[in-house]
Amino acid sequence: MRIEVLPSAAGVAARGAALFSALVRANPALVAALPTGRTPIAMYQKLATERTAGNFDLSRATTFNLDEVLLPKSSPQTFFQFMTRYAWDPLGVSSERRFIPDGASADPAQECERYESEIAVRGGLELAILGIGADGHIAYNLPQQAGPRTHVVTLDPATIATLGGGLKGPLRAITMGVATILSAKRILLLATGGSKAEALRRMRDDPQSEAWPCTLFRDHQDLTVIADRAAASQL
Ligand code: PGA
Repeated sequence: MRIEVLPSAAGVAARGAALFSALVRANPALVAALPTGRTPIAMYQKLATERTAGNFDLSRATTFNLDEVLLPKSSPQTFFQFMTRYAWDPLGVSSERRFIPDGASADPAQECERYESEIAVRGGLELAILGIGADGHIAYNLPQQAGPRTHVVTLDPATIATLGGGLKGPLRAITMGVATILSAKRILLLATGGSKAEALRRMRDDPQSEAWPCTLFRDHQDLTVIADRAAASQL
């Protein structure tokens, strides 16, 4: 894993945007896994500005979300709503190529299988852009709830709290699995802020374990971690 340390969160957003942009220029029809969360918002905003200037175009790309909470699409906490607001609309992703697990599925296990086959039908992931949780989760491969393929997890109260809106558990989610994500040809992981410092250190240094799912990703053949100084402070 390569680690790039930038002076600020704005630098991480700019670097992430530049790398993503270069990959889209090389292959405008690329298939990418995209994250939600606070961290990627600045990168999406930068790319939206680039799009307005005519320098970035996702209209031929296909995007797959890393995860989705099991709530109706209309709920403001869904990643469907997040993506519509911060990524799909501002970046011009075609409505036929916006993939996200259906959080209202009556059969979430079957929905996981459907999602895997949608990825496979499109030739697999060329790129995965990831965040990382302070507890080392990647997508919603939470401690002790990592799995190889797309699967259903139960969110812990701390993770539910990050969704805001006063949501109370129990709440489940669908997440891409570790092997699904590792099948991407290239991975960019964005990390900003001191709360991510321990997770990044463990990702690099700890034995691989389900307790810190981030450790399961570090041997990918083309993984670039882009961190600000605070997130890299324990490296
Ligand atoms: P955050 O979430 O960007 O809101 O910190 C990261 C994650 O949970 O992957």
